[in-house]
Amino acid sequence: MNLSITKAPFGVRPPVSKPIPEFLIEVTEEGTRELVSKHYDALVQSSISNLFPSDKKDIEEAKKNAADFLIQICGGRAYFNENRGAPRMVGRHAPFRIDNSAREVWLELYKPLLLELKDKGVTETSLRSMWNYLDVFSIWMINTK
Ligand code: HEM
Repeated sequence: MNLSITKAPFGVRPPVSKPIPEFLIEVTEEGTRELVSKHYDALVQSSISNLFPSDKKDIEEAKKNAADFLIQICGGRAYFNENRGAPRMVGRHAPFRIDNSAREVWLELYKPLLLELKDKGVTETSLRSMWNYLDVFSIWMINTK
């Protein structure tokens, strides 16, 4: 499965398609939380670890919020809105200096995790729809040249 990273000029926010609900049906809430947890575990070991919390309790909180959001965006329960209010994703990322290379690191760390899910039997259609969502929406979070 070829997961490629879309290039976009700074400041452009291309239209985003949400992941298909089948992703959540196949991966389940528990599996989605595990996916996000592994992604954060990789982020805190990466070259962009400076952006993320280092305290164990704070990482757990970050994992919870990010998983709440992904579950919600896949058509699951609106955990994020319930716990954190309106998503305002661009605004919530504004305090952090996110440039294209940080985005690429962030995205690259999702690749092996999605491929792992493929090996576990999750369909390519579902995985591709999640990848496409992350690939495009992550462009929106870039706020630094
Ligand atoms: C461009 C790559 C991205 C980088 C470098 C990045 C970085 C960050 C950082 C530094 C935080 C704050 C610390 C934390 O709570 O973890 C954060 C929070 C968060 N990010 Fe991202 N992010 C990126 C893309 C995305 C995308 C594409 C999504 C949506 C799928 C997303 C969803 C979230 C959520 C839900 C939070 C928690 C917000 C809150 O509860 O206040 N991020 N991100």
